[in-house]
Amino acid sequence: MKLWDIYATMKNDVSFIERELERTIVSDHELLNETSLHLLKSGGKRIRPVFVLLAGKFGTYDLEQLKRVAVPLELIHMASLVHDDVIDDADTRRGNLTVKSKWDNRIAMYTGDYIYAKALTMITELENPHIHKILSKAMVQMCIGEMEQIRDFFNTEQSVRQYLLRIRRKTAILIAISCQLGALAAGSDLKTSHLLYRYGYNVGMTFQIRDDVLDLTGTEAQIGKPPGNDIKQGNITLPVLFALQEQSIRRPLLAEIQRIHQHNGDTDVSEALSIIRNSKGIYEAEQLANRYMQKALDALVHLPDRRARKSLRDIAHFIANRSH
Ligand code: IPE
Ligand code: IPE
Ligand code: MG
Ligand code: MG
Repeated sequence: MKLWDIYATMKNDVSFIERELERTIVSDHELLNETSLHLLKSGGKRIRPVFVLLAGKFGTYDLEQLKRVAVPLELIHMASLVHDDVIDDADTRRGNLTVKSKWDNRIAMYTGDYIYAKALTMITELENPHIHKILSKAMVQMCIGEMEQIRDFFNTEQSVRQYLLRIRRKTAILIAISCQLGALAAGSDLKTSHLLYRYGYNVGMTFQIRDDVLDLTGTEAQIGKPPGNDIKQGNITLPVLFALQEQSIRRPLLAEIQRIHQHNGDTDVSEALSIIRNSKGIYEAEQLANRYMQKALDALVHLPDRRARKSLRDIAHFIANRSH
């Protein structure tokens, strides 16, 4: 099933959130307007707001309330991407130039900060300190996750556990709280919001593992950026860690990673990609992603049988198999 087919059941509400996103970041400062709209208009799946809306279906669904969570969550995601592209030195995102590449790093840093600030402006319209706390804690975890990623660049000795902890922080928690806060903003009980958190966390782990696989196997047309960027940056992802565990692969792969490191990533990585693609790493990473997906589906079983539950199930399948 395609993502847009799943969204079709709530097309009007997704369009409403889209307009609210734009309304929230528009300002009369010309440059901030241009830079922040640049990323917004480049597209994106808007999966976090969709999780908020779907989770909201398990309580009292009120779009005005839900938008106050959905918009900030997408903005926080967007801001983190603007900053992430500085860290990763990435030139393209969503098939378009990154802010750091179209303008420069300094402009990108402030654009990210500006978008974060706009997220806070909207979330504080909800007078619920519990929600504010959950959100700020998640933002702290995201920072730690990105810092750990920098610390672990080119570290081929890191464990799978270290990788999993890192992606939990940088990606899975934000998706988990998208589901949790959607439920809380709709006034649902703690059991429901907790189950939705568990679903979101496991879907989030699947999501990042899949993203990391795609960076190694996808085409530029599919992923909106050239493949191999992670390894160029020294971001050692799960398929690489699994490939390194393979006797016949370990030596040549280590040598390639070392060579890329010596060139500071400014070199052709096709040999490394081909070694990894010929290993069992991709398959093993996908297996683990599927285990997380299964856990996500297990959490859904305890929720009431509504159409939203089916949509969440479809999204989990989409994420596990996505090619963009
Ligand atoms: C990209 O997230 C960054 C990760 C957490 C893997 P998305 O894949 O949700 O990015 P967009 O918003 O659709 O561009
Ligand atoms: C996700 O990591 C970025 C954040 C969670 C901030 P990636 O570095 O893998 O994301 P892409 O691949 O650039 O979209
Ligand atoms: Mg990146
Ligand atoms: Mg990536």
